[in-house]
Amino acid sequence: MERVTPQYLIKKKKKGEKAVLLTAYDYITARIEDEAGIDVILVGDSYGTTVLGYSSTLPVTMQDMLPVVGAVRRGAERAMVIADMPYMSYQQSIEYAIRNAGRFMRLGVDGVKLEGGLAMKDTIKKLVDIGIPVMGHIGMTPQSYKKFGGYRVRGKKNTESLELLTDATALEDAGVFSIIVECVPEDVTRKITEEVKVPVYGIGAGRYCDGQILVVTDMLGLLSRETPKFVKEYAHIGNEVKKAISRYIEEVKQGIYPDENHTYF
Ligand code: KIV
Repeated sequence: MERVTPQYLIKKKKKGEKAVLLTAYDYITARIEDEAGIDVILVGDSYGTTVLGYSSTLPVTMQDMLPVVGAVRRGAERAMVIADMPYMSYQQSIEYAIRNAGRFMRLGVDGVKLEGGLAMKDTIKKLVDIGIPVMGHIGMTPQSYKKFGGYRVRGKKNTESLELLTDATALEDAGVFSIIVECVPEDVTRKITEEVKVPVYGIGAGRYCDGQILVVTDMLGLLSRETPKFVKEYAHIGNEVKKAISRYIEEVKQGIYPDENHTYF
């Protein structure tokens, strides 16, 4: 079994093979994703909106993320596990970013992800220089949704698409091993993917990149919530869980469960 590394992902890009990434927030899901053959598991700060019930990722802290990152790491053998740095865990100073990235690395993850392009170049360069693999994240970066005036597609205007190209190049220069591009028109993602040598993974960024990432609770249909256009539900697990629980409630009420097969004598 070949473990996924930054070098493996770059080889995949060179061969034109797509990588497949997914988020996870617990040991069980990480095990299932790993067994299914997911290349990279991102412990996203989307943990805040999917599991903790916040309306944005801004309230998520290092304290929230640390146990979750540890659990996902323990669930994955082959897949690369990347810890997402939460809001204000890396923006203050390079020293603060090193300290928090180090706390994740001590849990055995393979790298960290942080949001931002050119503005984060020096921080990322330092992290990479001291041996921490970094995944970049540009486009509609959720930690900056207030600056963008909401969760909207970025890169439709010429100025924005040029900014995104500058950001991607800055990230590559800083030494990232890959870049996530979120909610961007596909012709812009295509240009970025052709421009940089590191793999580019899209989420709502169209077809022409080196792989895709989705939020696991969205693609499994676990939460009945409104999802953006790019989300495809591959299952409706939330409905299945609700059906099973409703059946259990009915059976207990009607005295059907437990029957003699589920009883000690
Ligand atoms: O937090 C997250 O899940 C992410 C992905 C959407 C890329 O950053």
